[in-house]
Amino acid sequence: MIIAIDGPAASGKGTLAKRLAAHFGLPHLDTGMLYRGVARQMLDEGARLEDVDAAAGFALSFEPGLIDDERLRGREMGEAASVVAAHPPVRAALLALQRAFAEQPGGAVLDGRDIGTVICPGADIKLFVTATPEVRARRRALELAGRGEPVDEAAILLDIRQRDARDSQRDAAPLVKADDAVVIDTSALDVAGVVASALAIIAGKRHRIISSFQ
Ligand code: CDP
Repeated sequence: MIIAIDGPAASGKGTLAKRLAAHFGLPHLDTGMLYRGVARQMLDEGARLEDVDAAAGFALSFEPGLIDDERLRGREMGEAASVVAAHPPVRAALLALQRAFAEQPGGAVLDGRDIGTVICPGADIKLFVTATPEVRARRRALELAGRGEPVDEAAILLDIRQRDARDSQRDAAPLVKADDAVVIDTSALDVAGVVASALAIIAGKRHRIISSFQ
């Protein structure tokens, strides 16, 4: 079973992906960490994020082990990631790795922006997780505060709006809901509520698949 979860920044897709992976005993890939990792390497090497050729080079030689770096989770890395993620050769370079992860025996859970549309268009389950920008800014502020980072909620809201615009308006694999994805609006839901909604959607989908074979 491949579960594809997409959605905008701080919508709760990562938390949901982790919970579903644990529930079904599936491996999980947070694909945002790949773009964050490429951006981190570029900054460490003094490269400009806008340099498409340099970004493609870093993406082509990217070691998946590099995503286990706590420095990738900071606020500026999300912004930097969305700059390198808009370069088509970077996306092309990271495609095979993501598909291989998805296609491992037994299945996998992947979350990102283009999982249901580009990486796994044939995924068994596609979820599009969203929430209002204000709710997402609040959540991100709490998450950053929990990690001891300085928090300016108004600035975070501005970042979120800019990132939404950049991710949705880019030409390469923009953030859009796949036609066959089910939307979960998490604005008024806690984590347990989001997980329960997703499990109900998955159970319904599996029931329909089983019925169609009977
Ligand atoms: O956690 P958050 O939603 O803030 O960010 P993320 O999922 O780590 O993604 C960081 C950035 O990487 C996004 O703003 C996108 O520009 C980019 N990204 C992407 O283009 N495609 C993906 N599958 C995942 C992330």
